[in-house]
Amino acid sequence: MRHLLEIDDLSTDELEDVLARSAAADLAPSLTGKGVALVFEKPSARTRNSGEMAVFQLGGHPAYIQGTELGFDVRETVEDIARTLAGYYEIVCARVFKHETLERMVSTESVPIVNLLSDQAHPMQGLADVLTLQQQFGDIAGKTIAYVGDPNNVWRSLSIAAGMLGANLRLAAPAGHQPSDSDLARIRAAGGDPEISQDAASAVKGADAVYTDVWVSMGETGDTDAKKEAFAQFTVTNAVMAEASPDAIFMHCLPAHRGEEVSAEVADGPQSRIWPQAENRMHTARGLLSWLSEQ
Ligand code: CP
Ligand code: NVA
Repeated sequence: MRHLLEIDDLSTDELEDVLARSAAADLAPSLTGKGVALVFEKPSARTRNSGEMAVFQLGGHPAYIQGTELGFDVRETVEDIARTLAGYYEIVCARVFKHETLERMVSTESVPIVNLLSDQAHPMQGLADVLTLQQQFGDIAGKTIAYVGDPNNVWRSLSIAAGMLGANLRLAAPAGHQPSDSDLARIRAAGGDPEISQDAASAVKGADAVYTDVWVSMGETGDTDAKKEAFAQFTVTNAVMAEASPDAIFMHCLPAHRGEEVSAEVADGPQSRIWPQAENRMHTARGLLSWLSEQ
């Protein structure tokens, strides 16, 4: 039984298969007569709606379920909920506060589990990100992706996905907000070799794509004002984009906070690919669910 908790749950060949399915116009309706649970402990615009449409396009029935209704470890245990849902659904997808919740669902060995975002990873976003890069550049091996901002769930999955496809990775983040050794080891094991700096301008120099995400993620605790202060010099502005390749694109998983991690003129400017990137969430959800339902 296969699951997707992080991109490196796929081999590189499997990742390429999922991306090919995502771009295909003639996918078999592999979920006809079957249901897919979409469980959310946190809000969503893209993930819920792209997921519902992807299941529909594969002939299946998407069931949106609020996490509070299930009550993980409140109403009953995570394991009992997973085993229950496995009786009705072909695949269970979940957006959770704690990555461990997904690991406990997997441990029941009852149904394929898909991570719709946890505190650790956002693999469904990573799939859409590399499809967007491929649509822009073709083969992304040797292309340079500069991520400016918080090395968070989105950064991890992007780095693993792009690293598996041979892209060069750079990260700019302030002191005190650098990635852990275990994050870097996992990205290297997947094939990436990130260059880490504390300077946005040098990290984006000559880059083909500049990526950012919010400085404070959903469910994050701690001193968020202090964190925003620490990232104040890491806004992707026109001046930062001017250091990148003249053909560089700007990417953001959304939701965006214009005036914080990105200026409005970049998010809404000619280099921005945020809308095709958001639409690709549906195409890659369809590709992933097609692949998973045939395992
Ligand atoms: N990018 C993304 O996951 O968006 P939502 O939080 O709206 O699903
Ligand atoms: N890093 C963000 C991504 C939202 C799609 C968060 O976890 O809130």
